[in-house]
Amino acid sequence: MRTITVMNLKGGVAKTTTTVNVAAILAHDHKKRVLVVDADSQCNTTEFLSGSATPGGTLADLLRDKDIGIYRYVVGTKINNVYLIAGSDELMDLDLTKVETEAVNAGHLRTLVNGFSKLGAYDYCLIDCPPAFNAASAAALLAADEVLIPIKLDAFSLRGMTNLMRQINNMRAINPDLKLLGCLPTMWYACKRTKAAEETLRAYGLPVLPHVRRTDKVDDMTFAQRPLIESSPRSAAAVDYRAFVRWLVKGGALNG
Ligand SMILES: Nc1ncnc2c1ncn2[C@@H]1O[C@H](COP(=O)(O)OP(=O)(O)O)[C@@H](O)[C@H]1O
Ligand SMILES: [Mg+2]
Repeated sequence: MRTITVMNLKGGVAKTTTTVNVAAILAHDHKKRVLVVDADSQCNTTEFLSGSATPGGTLADLLRDKDIGIYRYVVGTKINNVYLIAGSDELMDLDLTKVETEAVNAGHLRTLVNGFSKLGAYDYCLIDCPPAFNAASAAALLAADEVLIPIKLDAFSLRGMTNLMRQINNMRAINPDLKLLGCLPTMWYACKRTKAAEETLRAYGLPVLPHVRRTDKVDDMTFAQRPLIESSPRSAAAVDYRAFVRWLVKGGALNG
């Protein structure tokens, strides 16, 4: 199982949009089994995928739990072959001080991910992070093989990257194999500024992945609560997410 944490300390950069659409495309186009973990107390991913409150344990329960029965936390979703560990507003209360006092064990998510890896239960695990560095984000970086950074190419986002890279590098002390998949420019449109911003990212040594174009169809998707490949399959963002996922699955250069 390949575990990818979708992270950016800024809100509104399309972390959730990326998570749910990449999950849907992996499952539908590539016949992969995908486990999505909602690590954000806003629970946008949970609502989008499950439509309502989900039974069973949530990620907050998992991080506080002592006895980890791994299947207890996983629920099905509206999308075939996409499974979910739900978020909850309790994730907000799990701050880093509680990790230090061990009321919260950030390692539980890694234990669960390792357990599913051994069982071969899922092909991909995608973890949607909050726009902050808290216990759930630490758990996500600890559990991941790779980090994907959706980024809106504006000056505010570029400034936030230094802080994010510091957190990722700090985590490498306990998860030395953590790799940076790259920055995924979202809400992209052609102009001089976006080109310059991509150059800035490369100058920081950050790989820049194929972009996802801006389109109103993404806002429509949030109301329809269906992924872009169902709600607007011909939209630019659906086409771009599909191209990104082809690249991801091949693990190499973009294939048309
Ligand atoms: N490619 C895109 N084009 C236009 N709007 C987008 C695109 N991707 C995301 N959005 C919009 O941006 C907003 C933030 O997206 P969201 O996925 O919730 O970000 P995050 O999870 O990082 O906070 C939403 O209103 C969403 O509809
Ligand atoms: Mg989000």
